[in-house]
Amino acid sequence: MENKITMDKIVNLCKSRGFVFPGSEIYGGFANTWDFGPVGVELKNNVKRAWWKRFVQEDPNTYGVDCSILMNPKVWEASGHVASFGDPKMDCKKCKQRFRADTIVENHSKGSVSAEAMSDQQLEDYIKEHHICCPHCGGFDWTPIRKFNPMFITSRGTLEAEADKVYLRPETCQGEYVNFLNVQRSSRAKVPFAIAQIGKSFRNEITPGNFLFRTIEFEQMELQMFCKDEDSMSIYNNYKERAWEFVEALGLKRENLRFHDHDKLAHYAKAACDIQFNFPIGWQELNGIHHRGVWDLSRHQEFSGKSMLYTDPFTNEKFLPNVIEYSIGADRLTLALLCQAYDEESLENGESRVVMHFHPFIAPYKVAVLPLQKNLSDKAKEIYSKLSKEFMCDYDEAGSIGKRYRRQDEIGTPFAVTIDFETLENNTVTLRDRDTMEQIRLSIDELIPYISERVKFN
Ligand code: GAP
Repeated sequence: MENKITMDKIVNLCKSRGFVFPGSEIYGGFANTWDFGPVGVELKNNVKRAWWKRFVQEDPNTYGVDCSILMNPKVWEASGHVASFGDPKMDCKKCKQRFRADTIVENHSKGSVSAEAMSDQQLEDYIKEHHICCPHCGGFDWTPIRKFNPMFITSRGTLEAEADKVYLRPETCQGEYVNFLNVQRSSRAKVPFAIAQIGKSFRNEITPGNFLFRTIEFEQMELQMFCKDEDSMSIYNNYKERAWEFVEALGLKRENLRFHDHDKLAHYAKAACDIQFNFPIGWQELNGIHHRGVWDLSRHQEFSGKSMLYTDPFTNEKFLPNVIEYSIGADRLTLALLCQAYDEESLENGESRVVMHFHPFIAPYKVAVLPLQKNLSDKAKEIYSKLSKEFMCDYDEAGSIGKRYRRQDEIGTPFAVTIDFETLENNTVTLRDRDTMEQIRLSIDELIPYISERVKFN
């Protein structure tokens, strides 16, 4: 990052400008939950739109779905989440705080040790050898590592005694697996094809934190590509490229991105990697791309008793396709984009400004309509009503024009239209560019085509 930006600066800006507020704040908050405000909801919706555009709209072989959060509990037995979805937790006996052993090791080694490749015993040994103390109280009195299942449990049924245990989904992709044949048959899809969805997931994380980075409720954008074994490795590599291209096109800078190939693979996996982003807290996973072999479909076939075999329309051969998964958190990506966009600039006149250099496609508002004086507000409102049929627009007539520009800079509005007395005479306005701060004069009729051309995501 050019500026020494901190997570605190991002959190403060997010709260004061209406991007993100602490969840249930008037009740003292509810740890690691966050509410997107008027500006943040636009930003996150645009991030999701960009992903959907790139991976569903522009890809004739990808089909979207929107599946239930609550699924038959057997789904989670088949997926392995009930039996073995577990983080290695350790408690500090002194202050009773709970931590993930792998996170403790990774933070202590500043990422130089790959904790994901270590067994529980190795993690414990490392913590002992390096005398890693409790990050909360500084004590050194750890319990042994135990597995902790982070699935949230709720119940279904009107009578408590008869209620069945139900899980809030910890990932969205199981909806894509269980609907594999529904989508294939209804869409007459031929492998390779993918199923994609965006939706909420829930995890009772042991060590949530760092703002939107790790929360207990979050949105995932996940895609499963079903393919033949012989095509699977090139499809995996292709998704690595596409995933990188997507985040770079949205504005993340190349120098803040890197691939991280996994050292330790699940027994069924053939390859796995993350793209990491250089967050203010250091290099961390942004998304994952996984070659999962035939594991998921074979498990659902086994647990449901229903065939998940795909029939090749040309050869009539029946087989279970391989799965390449691409998964990225909408909130985590939004956080990365907030961090990347944040800039503190010193201006020539000695003043300074905070400006969010969002890609115009994801900017919450595309244009702000600003009457120079209140008695120009009728004309300004007329222009607002015209522009707002095309774009999310903001309207602001309070305070000096300089302060209003600063407010728009802080929420990343790429264009500001100023209405002055000349507007009444010849129907022209001033259009200010957020990044260069240059101003040009345009006729009102030119505004929509001019802005439309510059807020596309291609
Ligand atoms: N279906 C595969 C899966 O869920 P994952 O690595 O656990 O894989 C995928 O999650 C992505 O979801 C992560 O790369 C991250 O962007 C996001 N994610 C996971 N846990 C999260 C959490 N607690 N808070 C915010 N985002 C999270």
